[in-house]
This record gives sequence, structure tokens and C-alpha cells, in this order.
Amino acid sequence: MKDKRLLTEILGIEFPIIMAPMFLVSNSKMLIAASNNGITGAVPALNYRTDEEFRAAIKEVRAKSTGPMGVNLIVNKSNPKMEQQLKTSVELGVDYIITSLGSPAEVIKQCKAKGIKVFCDVVDLKFAKKVEQLGADAVIAVNKEAGGHAGPMSREELIPLLVEECNIPVISAGGVGNKAELDHVLSLGACGASVGSIFIASEESDVSDEYKQACVDYGAKDIVLSTKVSGSPCTVINTPYVQKIGTKQNWLEAMLSKNKRLKKWVKMLTFVKGMKSLEKSAFSATYKTVWCAGPTIEHVKSIRPISEIINALVK
Ligand SMILES: Cc1cc2nc3c(=O)[nH]c(=O)nc-3n(C[C@H](O)[C@H](O)[C@H](O)COP(=O)(O)O)c2cc1C
Repeated sequence: MKDKRLLTEILGIEFPIIMAPMFLVSNSKMLIAASNNGITGAVPALNYRTDEEFRAAIKEVRAKSTGPMGVNLIVNKSNPKMEQQLKTSVELGVDYIITSLGSPAEVIKQCKAKGIKVFCDVVDLKFAKKVEQLGADAVIAVNKEAGGHAGPMSREELIPLLVEECNIPVISAGGVGNKAELDHVLSLGACGASVGSIFIASEESDVSDEYKQACVDYGAKDIVLSTKVSGSPCTVINTPYVQKIGTKQNWLEAMLSKNKRLKKWVKMLTFVKGMKSLEKSAFSATYKTVWCAGPTIEHVKSIRPISEIINALVK
């Protein structure tokens, strides 16, 4: 039977919105602000270098907010810390886990027993059906307007398809930057929205003022897909530096990443190199600016507290 509940009911929150997990950007202050303003936030476990830091963050959010909190786990082989991150999340009892980039089987198995909900990122029907069979509580339908690693389908194609074919609720991710867009994805059948890019330029985020200001100054037309960051297409702001280095892997990397024996290592190297340049750009003043953001920065007109960003989104 179809689960037709809204995210408000599923998670016990006032508005049907998840502040989406964002590598380097999300932190505990943001999650606390989200929770105290009627929505919920999720943080990538990868934003913490050590298990101690990760534990401390979960405990801080718990202590300073009353609503549900989520954690994002990268569940493929590129994340060697996944086992420990899952163990900690289960032990400390987060409310939900968002899985991305791989099979959520192990996460679902461990979370079910503890009553922790699992929402899985999907970009098409095939994977949505797979995670539903595995026991996911909802799918997060990542469409082609999303910031980060966007999917191939528009929200108009993806949401109705998943709502029709799946029994679990569909949370939409991508392209929601104001109330009209939130209403639009709800009218397509989504039970809620996972919203990322518009929260980068928040006072609570620890990224550099330059990164936040870029989200104010640039708009949807300035977002390009780059394979230089992680090897897979990722949305970045088309700064003069990005224009200079280009958005495609160089021919040597591209060629080597097709080689059967070498591809695993080349992919890993590209990933590590890309993450380092993202990290440098996110936290320090550098001319080598590789800033990840999606087209909804079109709606960002100033750096504001999260309470104001949420207010504008729901009222
Ligand atoms: C800067 C940035 C970092 C992101 N990092 C992650 C991540 O670590 N894990 C993940 O599953 N999704 C990540 N995403 C995707 C978001 O969770 C979410 O799907 C997306 O932001 C929704 O689209 P929107 O930006 O249009 O709201 C990231 C997105 C952005 C903009």
C-alpha cells in the first residue's frame, strides 16, 4: 500500500523540508538552526575528520535542539570510514540516515533494528525500486537541477514516475529555492523537499565569506558541470579560475580512468585532488576558486541567518 504521508508527519516537523547534507558546508550550527526553525537538517559524516569530532557534533545538535537530525553516509567503496560512521550513527541514535552513491543494504539492515529511518538518494526508477525492495523508508529523488552530483531527469519527469511506481514516499532534491518551487514539487507528488544550495550563504555556515558572497553575486546561468572535481559531473560556479582550468578532466586522466587495471587508482586520485581544491576554496581566500553550488543560488540575494532563509521558503 502506498505511504502517502508528508515529510512533516514522517519526521514530526513543522515544514516538509530537509536542509540537505553538503560536503564541507553543513555543520552542527546549521542543523541546530534548521531544527529550531521548523525543518530538519542532515550533515555528511565525511565533514568530520575523526570519529570523536563526529560524535561530538551529533551530541551537540542533540543537546541544543529538539527536532530530528540526520546524517549522510557515502555508501560506496570510496569511503573507507563508512563502517565506523554507521556504527556511531546507530549507537548515538540519529533519527534518519541519507545514503548516497552506492547500495544502502547494510545501512538499512542495521538501522531497521534500531528504528532509524533510511532515505536513499536515487536518480532513476531502477535504483528507486531496488532501495524500496531493500526496505528504504523513502527515496530522495535527485533531479537535474540539483546542486552537487545532479541526476539526469527533470523533476517533472522524475517525481511523478517514482510516485506512481513506488509505494514509499518520494522526497524531491534539486531546484527548490523559493516557496513557489517548494509548492511545485509538492504538487508533483513529492512528500517534501531536500534543499541545499540556498543554505550555503547562511550566517551559520563556516565556509569563507568569498564562497558565500559568490552565491549572492552569481546566478543560475553561471552554474556549470565539471568532471574535474570528483571525476563525476558536479555543479560548480563558473568563476574565472574554473573558466581557466576548464570543466573536463585532462585527456591523460580521462584515458587512464578507462584503463581496466588503472581506473580504480586514477579515479581515487582525481577524487582526492578534487576534494582538496574544493576544501581550499571553501575555507580560505584563494584565487583558485572551485565552489560547488546549484542553480538555485539565483534566489540568494544576501548572506542571512538560517531562520530568515527558512522563513522565505515557507511563508
Ligand atoms: C555544496 C554542496 C555539497 C553537497 N554535498 C553532498 C554530500 O556530501 N552528500 C550528498 O549526498 N549530497 C550532497 N549534495 C547534494 C545535496 O544533498 C542536495 O541533493 C542538493 O543540494 C539539492 O539541490 P539544491 O542544491 O538545488 O537544493 C551537495 C550539494 C551542494 C550544493
